[in-house]
Amino acid sequence: MRGLQESVGLRVKVLVTGAMGFIGSNLVPALVRAGHVVTGIDNLVNVSVEPFERIRRAIADDPQWADNFYFAKADIRNEFELKQVFANHEFDAVVNLAALGSVPRSFQTPQKTVETNEFGFANVLKVMSEFKVGRLVYASSSSVYGDSQKHVKIEGEEGRALNPYALSKQMNEAFAGIYGRAKQINCVGLRFFNVYGPGQLPFSEFSAVIPKFINTTPKIFGDGSTTRDFTFVSDVVDAIGLSLAFSENESAVLNVGTGTGTSLKQLVMHLSKTAEQLPERLGDVRYSVASTTLCERTIGFKAKIEIAEGLKLTKAFYESELHRGKTC
Ligand SMILES: NC(=O)c1ccc[n+]([C@@H]2O[C@H](COP(=O)([O-])OP(=O)(O)OC[C@H]3O[C@@H](n4cnc5c(N)ncnc54)[C@H](O)[C@@H]3O)[C@@H](O)[C@H]2O)c1
Repeated sequence: MRGLQESVGLRVKVLVTGAMGFIGSNLVPALVRAGHVVTGIDNLVNVSVEPFERIRRAIADDPQWADNFYFAKADIRNEFELKQVFANHEFDAVVNLAALGSVPRSFQTPQKTVETNEFGFANVLKVMSEFKVGRLVYASSSSVYGDSQKHVKIEGEEGRALNPYALSKQMNEAFAGIYGRAKQINCVGLRFFNVYGPGQLPFSEFSAVIPKFINTTPKIFGDGSTTRDFTFVSDVVDAIGLSLAFSENESAVLNVGTGTGTSLKQLVMHLSKTAEQLPERLGDVRYSVASTTLCERTIGFKAKIEIAEGLKLTKAFYESELHRGKTC
């Protein structure tokens, strides 16, 4: 992992919430392998493909790993549980990934989205301030650009939220800005753009497009020109590492993407598949690609993995999981 060691010292004590999720289970081994001490919490409500086993495998060659990784089942909505975790461990920083993702789910159960993504997030900040932990890196989302018609999404040019999930991420950013300043917590919000890679759930009704396209017959709504900035998970892990090392006192909100768009039609071609064509869905944002300038200037992040390579790695992951007889 780049960035983290040089700026913060050899061993950083980090709390990762949502540690057993897709991004969390890729982040935890990277942090441990970089020599840091990681406490992961998760309420295990939306656990991705075999996270415990994958984390264990990824850090098995480090004889210290058992001492450098601790996991507790805890819920960020529960202030008492959070306080127990903070009382039992000392942290230099928190990475907040725990959330309920998926736009359709946020319409099905908006109250749960608000409870976890907003109330839970406020709990994390409150407990951090009580235990005097001064650094937070948190997951925001490209969805905060909402109804903005601009193809390239630039920080500061957000639109109106189109769904409860996007609204919850906008609230996180606003809350981190206000509360972080008032309580001296250095907050870095990372707007992830369509993350994909090993460990992402493929068969849930709320699964993202790449795991669905790889593991089932792709369904395309409309003509397939809908374009997204698909970002490989190891790049996201790097961006989190660099954000932990970000030493300025100001909070920041940054896009984390590749800056390159891939249409759904191109995605199907990359995967050598044939898609089922369905009528266009109203309300889908047509084009969303990250401007990468601010993130590169602020934390020195530049994505390394191009879509063709990322898809190859992701396909290989699902093939090996199926080979192991996992149902994913
Ligand atoms: N994957 C993407 O494309 C993407 C894009 C933009 C933003 N994000 C954000 O990044 C973060 C991580 O995403 P992910 O793809 O790894 O999602 P994920 O669902 O795989 O991981 C989230 C984890 O949080 C846990 N969790 C949910 N509610 C919790 C609670 N109340 N207390 C403790 N743990 C709880 C879940 O069990 C899960 O393990 C989320 O905040 C998500 O909104 C993801």
